[in-house]
Amino acid sequence: MPSFRYAASQIIIHWLVAAAIFFLLITGTFILAELPNTPEKIGNLRIHMLVGAVVALLVITRIVLKRSKPAAPPVKGQALARIGHVALNLVVLLLAVSGMVLALQSGALQAVFGSGALPADFMEFTPRIVHGLASKVLIALVAVHVLAALYHQFIVKDRLLARMGLGSKQ
Ligand code: HEM
Repeated sequence: MPSFRYAASQIIIHWLVAAAIFFLLITGTFILAELPNTPEKIGNLRIHMLVGAVVALLVITRIVLKRSKPAAPPVKGQALARIGHVALNLVVLLLAVSGMVLALQSGALQAVFGSGALPADFMEFTPRIVHGLASKVLIALVAVHVLAALYHQFIVKDRLLARMGLGSKQ
């Protein structure tokens, strides 16, 4: 039974990022991608871009914090978990970078935070294709991540969720 628990800062960042990514994936897929690029869309894009940029900063902070702290003790399936966690971080950072390049290249950054019109269609820009594909990969990775955590908690019964502040650790 692991009795390890991450530092409070790590736990808070983890759940903030989880909530923000859930918000970005749902609103990005079902609202942003469906709306025509009229001026009414600018408010939605502003929230999306700001939350996306904050997510990138939080993920980088968590990676730095994790490197400066003693490593968590290994669990069953450690190698797979490591690959999954590295992939999650990389894909989130790819989303942030492709989103920022898209915003710059398409003129959306100027339209959203300054003045000017949105492009007729974001799909004309390669970073938009990368952003859309990466969002689908992230949905799959998050699903595997959640299922793996539930497998540990309820099948292996090693109280793994306590590491992230959920439930008792002994
Ligand atoms: C880091 C986490 C991020 C996530 C999880 C995320 C997620 C998404 C999703 C799911 C979509 C819709 C994709 C589709 O269904 O094809 C989308 C679209 C978009 N995102 Fe992000 N995004 C992130 C960061 C950013 C950032 C930092 C920016 C810009 C600064 C950005 C700008 C955009 C733009 C301009 C669109 C296109 C909207 C459209 O097609 O009308 N995103 N994003």
